[in-house]
Amino acid sequence: MSDTPISNDIKEIIISEKNIEQRCRELAAQIEADYENDGITPLVVGLLKGSVPFMSELIKYFHHAIEIDFISVSSYEGTESSGDVKIDKDLDLSSRNKNVLIVEDIVDTGRTLKAVKQLFYNKGANEVRIVSLLDKPDRRKVDIEADYVGFKVPDAFVVGYGLDYNQKYRNLPYIGILKEEIYE
Ligand code: XMP
Ligand code: MG
Repeated sequence: MSDTPISNDIKEIIISEKNIEQRCRELAAQIEADYENDGITPLVVGLLKGSVPFMSELIKYFHHAIEIDFISVSSYEGTESSGDVKIDKDLDLSSRNKNVLIVEDIVDTGRTLKAVKQLFYNKGANEVRIVSLLDKPDRRKVDIEADYVGFKVPDAFVVGYGLDYNQKYRNLPYIGILKEEIYE
């Protein structure tokens, strides 16, 4: 391991660990109430790898039965605008006739989520909703919104709590803005 803490590369913490925990409690209560109303057990699907810290925090606050699974997708090279995705690791469980709740770290252009949502409908899901820790509405390129959002963030490169820059910083327990000199 390198001896420099990764927190040295952060310019500013914009969302603290405490705030994230509190928001996860609120989101879980809201989501659970919505599903409970309809008597539904959701299949909660984390998009690897960015959703992992958020998903593990969020699901702690559900009091009723849920199923969980993970999927890993990547964009087809050269077809960014089409929003096609390739499945790198598929679900273990079937999503047929399930009410799928996709868990994502951030909605940016929206292309990934739009494609993943369609993917689950193609696999026969009954309904697909999205919960995202962060939302960058100013960057949206396609018509998609998360049903549940933790925090809106400005158009800056943010890392931590699952979000990476070159696979680094996912383990920071907060959301921070990276110092420009790191990616320039
Ligand atoms: P789209 O554009 O399809 O992509 O909505 C969402 C994915 O883009 C990544 N992303 C970020 N990752 N800091 C990050 O660490 C950011 O500020 C950021 N903006 C977008 C992320 O992988 C997300 O799943
Ligand atoms: Mg991602």
